[in-house]
Amino acid sequence: MEIVKLNFEYSDDVTVINREQFEAHMRLYEGYVNKINEIDGLLADDPDLEGANSTYSEFRGIKRGETYALNGVILHEFYFENIGSNNNEPDEVVMNFLSRFFGSYELWQEHFVATAKASRGWVILCYDPRSDSLRNLSLDLHDYGNAAMSIPLLVLDMYEHAYFLQYADNKAEYIDNFMKNIDWSVVKDRIESM
Ligand SMILES: [Fe+2]
Repeated sequence: MEIVKLNFEYSDDVTVINREQFEAHMRLYEGYVNKINEIDGLLADDPDLEGANSTYSEFRGIKRGETYALNGVILHEFYFENIGSNNNEPDEVVMNFLSRFFGSYELWQEHFVATAKASRGWVILCYDPRSDSLRNLSLDLHDYGNAAMSIPLLVLDMYEHAYFLQYADNKAEYIDNFMKNIDWSVVKDRIESM
């Protein structure tokens, strides 16, 4: 089944990134959608299973690209969905949820920001049903650092492509603007749909 690109429209409410930064990032997202569809096509079209080899093989290339492209699609969709809106404060339900696992909303925030500073790819606030815990995961690549059962609740893109056009090397300002422009209604919906 073909993976369809979702439409995220730029809005002036999305103050964490400007239009130029948004549109450049959207083109990258579209690239991942195209690649996972290309990979799925290769998998459906009699790939060389006999030649599979972990040092080098065409099939290994397909398999490495599969999770990279798929996570690239999924994580960007979570990110674009949870940035910017007029819902920039978590309500009591979300506050209590974060406090239950991190002690307080403020403590969660400190951990999340530090995780962002420590990450080269993604930061994911996720729920792990196996350990009944919330975790701020740090991914250096789309397919490196994720936890198998994690349910993403809030996603931040820390790749340089996400902010460099607008913020240059001012990573701290990008993180700060992200934290002030989270659409908490989206996070709440994700919590309530678990
Ligand atoms: Fe990105």
